[in-house]
Amino acid sequence: MSKRPEASPAAVRLRAASLAFGQRQILQDLDLEIPSGQAVALIGPSGVGKTSLLRVLTGAQALQAGSAELLGENPQTLKGAKLRALLLRVGHLYQNDALVPGLRAVHNVLVGRLGRWSLLRSIISLIWPRDVELARAAMARVGLEDRLAAPISNLSGGERQRVALARLLVQNPELILADEPVAALDPRLAREVIELLVGLAKEEGRSCLVSLHDWEIVGPYFDRVIALKDGRWFFDGPPGDFLPEALAELYVDEKANGGPRA
Ligand SMILES: Nc1ncnc2c1ncn2[C@@H]1O[C@H](COP(=O)(O)OP(=O)(O)OP(=O)(O)O)[C@@H](O)[C@H]1O
Ligand SMILES: [Mg+2]
Repeated sequence: MSKRPEASPAAVRLRAASLAFGQRQILQDLDLEIPSGQAVALIGPSGVGKTSLLRVLTGAQALQAGSAELLGENPQTLKGAKLRALLLRVGHLYQNDALVPGLRAVHNVLVGRLGRWSLLRSIISLIWPRDVELARAAMARVGLEDRLAAPISNLSGGERQRVALARLLVQNPELILADEPVAALDPRLAREVIELLVGLAKEEGRSCLVSLHDWEIVGPYFDRVIALKDGRWFFDGPPGDFLPEALAELYVDEKANGGPRA
C-alpha cells in the first residue's frame, strides 16, 4: 500500500503582511502561499512593491505587521549565521547579475559552491577551479559549454544571464527568487532566458518566484501569475485567466505616464 507523502512546507508564505514607507502602503495585509514546485510570476507596474516583497522574503526588509516564511523558516526573525544558512538554500537572480567581470565564466559558475567551501578552498579555486566538471555540466545545460574559459566581460547580456543560471544550477537551491532577471535583455532573449530559468527550476521540482515588469514574457512558462497593485493582490491565478482588460487596468496609471516598458 502506498503511503501518502508528508506535506512539505510551502516554499514561500506571507500571512497578513503589511509594509509601508511613510504614507505609502506597499503591502496591505497580504496573504500568499507558494507550494513546492510551483513557478510563479510576480507582476505589477513600476514602484508597486515587487522588489520590496522579495526583500521581505530574504529578511532584508522588515515587515510592519504579519509574518513571512521561506522554506519553512522565518527570514524576518532569523539573524546572522542562521539567516545565511537559510539564504544558501535559495538561489537569487537579478537584472544585472552580480557576476565578477574580470573572472572567467568557470569561476563565476563555481561561486555557486562558495557557501559550502572553506575560505582556503575558495581562494585555491580561483587559481585552479575545483569541480570544473560540475561547472562544465552546468554551462552545457544553458548552452554555453564552449564559453567556460571566457572572461565575463567578453560575454553578451544574454550569455551573462545564462552564466548566472549555470551558477544557480551549481548552487542547487530549493527555491529561486529572481528580481526582473531579464529587464536588460531584448524580448526574444528575455523569453529564452525565462523559459530556461523556469525549465531548470521545474525539472528538479524547485519553486521559483520571478518578478517581471512586463506581461509579454510571462507567456506560457509560469503556472501562476500574481499581480500586485495598491498594496493588494490584483490578480492571482493561471496566466490564461488573466484577461486583456484586467491587464490594461493593472497598468492604467503607468500608461497615463507613458506606458509600460516594451
Ligand atoms: N527603503 C525604502 N525606503 C523608502 N521607500 C522605499 C524603500 N524601498 C522602496 N521604497 C519605495 O517603495 C515603492 C516600491 O518600491 P519597489 O522597488 O519595491 O517597487 P518595484 O515594484 O520593484 O518597482 P520596479 O518595477 O520599478 O522595480 C517605491 O515607491 C519605492 O520608492
Ligand atoms: Mg523592482
